[in-house]
Amino acid sequence: MTSTTRREFHQKTLGALLTWSLLDTLFAGDAFASDVRPVASQWLAKLNSMSLDLKGKKLEQLEWQKQVEELFSKVDLPELLQFIDFEKLTANVKFKERGELSLQATLPEVEGLPTKLVFGHQVFALNKGRSVVPHGHDNMATAFLILKGNFHGRHFDRLEDEKEHMIVKPTIDGSFASGSYSTVSDLKDNVHWFTAMDDGAFIFNIHVMSVNPGRTGRVYIDPAGEKLAGDKLRCRKINHVQAETLYG
Ligand SMILES: [Fe+2]
Repeated sequence: MTSTTRREFHQKTLGALLTWSLLDTLFAGDAFASDVRPVASQWLAKLNSMSLDLKGKKLEQLEWQKQVEELFSKVDLPELLQFIDFEKLTANVKFKERGELSLQATLPEVEGLPTKLVFGHQVFALNKGRSVVPHGHDNMATAFLILKGNFHGRHFDRLEDEKEHMIVKPTIDGSFASGSYSTVSDLKDNVHWFTAMDDGAFIFNIHVMSVNPGRTGRVYIDPAGEKLAGDKLRCRKINHVQAETLYG
């Protein structure tokens, strides 16, 4: 073999190797996309269209809660965890002394999933005994899906607002294992409070802010309120620092 033909031979072989390597990568990528991504992305896309309908008044708040819970009941948790790259997201978590740490998952850009979602999303990280402190919501619809660990979850209906108090009534009080979920709107189960029962516990949260134009956000309360007739409680409105000191 002359030196020229040897060089050509090497170039061709290298070219073939590169092609195979590239094909391999593309194939692996495609397999991953077709096997995993569409299910989780379709799930998120449905959540997005429901939330758009909620803001566009095509969907009533109670109906949004019902549909979101139905969708959450069908989630494939391992796929969702893979989609949000849960392992990487939670690899070096510095858990907070009180309350929840909010982590931001970067969603992969996938066909069929809008890059700009109408809802905000985050992953809450907590160690045992720490809580997403008791709070209600103004003009907001939210949902929790437990990703890992067990929680004690409580909800209350927000019945009435006074200047410094909120009248509430307990609605949900139970154990939430991974895959469990609950929703919040202005009309139903508006106040929630979740305490981690395990170290390294995580919640996937989505929130639709300003369901109607105007102010939106959390309102913290102290559930150790005055007991009223009919199972109701008259709870003090408190600020975030007070809530974390008492319950975080
Ligand atoms: Fe909340």
